[in-house]
Amino acid sequence: MLIKEALQTGRQFLTWHNIPSAHLDARVLLSHVTGLDYTALLLQSRQPLTAEQQQQYRRLLDRRAYGEPVAYLTGHKEFMGLDFIVTPAVLIPRPDTELLAETALAHLRQQPGPLAADVGTGSGAIAVSLACLLPGLRLWAVDLSAEALAVARQNAQLHRVDHRITFLQGNLLAPLPPSLQGRLDVIAANLPYIPSGEIDGLMPDVKDYEPHLALDGGLDGLDLYRRLVPAAHRFLKPGGLLLMEIGPGQGEAACQMLPPEDWQAEVKHDLAGRRRLVTARKITRAQK
Ligand SMILES: C[S@@+](CC[C@H](N)C(=O)[O-])C[C@H]1O[C@@H](n2cnc3c(N)ncnc32)[C@H](O)[C@@H]1O
Repeated sequence: MLIKEALQTGRQFLTWHNIPSAHLDARVLLSHVTGLDYTALLLQSRQPLTAEQQQQYRRLLDRRAYGEPVAYLTGHKEFMGLDFIVTPAVLIPRPDTELLAETALAHLRQQPGPLAADVGTGSGAIAVSLACLLPGLRLWAVDLSAEALAVARQNAQLHRVDHRITFLQGNLLAPLPPSLQGRLDVIAANLPYIPSGEIDGLMPDVKDYEPHLALDGGLDGLDLYRRLVPAAHRFLKPGGLLLMEIGPGQGEAACQMLPPEDWQAEVKHDLAGRRRLVTARKITRAQK
């Protein structure tokens, strides 16, 4: 089978199985199997696949047809222009979360000797990309899941920023050293925010494959954020930012969790105009 035939059959096969991103997925899987990027696949379209490559490609197409996400099949996902290792122990980083990372970066760039925490770090996408993009930054990254933390550590090593990130297992900000209280410039949180009752209605590739610990945010989706807010206030320095990714309909309820005497809050829109990020600046009595 030639490369161009493999691409065509892969696309047809995934389309036939109602995979919405059939064209892109066939190409990404073929790139993974051959080690060739998209340009090279086009330039070498008349090259034959080896028998082993054909077999591996067929196996991956079958798994994709059953709904397994491409990133778990290849073991990789790009975030903020960087390559991240992903396994089924972590949520696949989403392009939507780049709004949070970019907002954190813009604030941290203004701070001397910046310090930040990433709570619910998962693959480490936020912590590792911030560390890569800001060489003076020191971070603490927390997750409940030991398996997720192992992946996050691998990503920090891959990008050679592991010496600037302390990984801690535990609940929300509980594992942070008390000596950090009042000192953090940013707390980044992409915690689970899907209401429990909506999990069953999610796309099969999300609900059947991604860890529910990374999705389920309780009754209205905001349980974890509600618990995070008071602790975040203790750990931020005056003027520091708490950033929380939310679902499109959660902006108003999320802002109600932030007492106006403690926080100056607003909701940012993503490029599609959806309200997806709460930015809350810690205010102190002296600033009021
Ligand atoms: C939506 S995922 C986000 C992963 C990553 N930050 C990203 O943006 O791709 C949420 C993460 O929060 C973790 N988590 C869930 N409950 C937690 C808790 N109480 N304390 C700390 N981490 C928690 C999950 O294990 C999961 O890795």
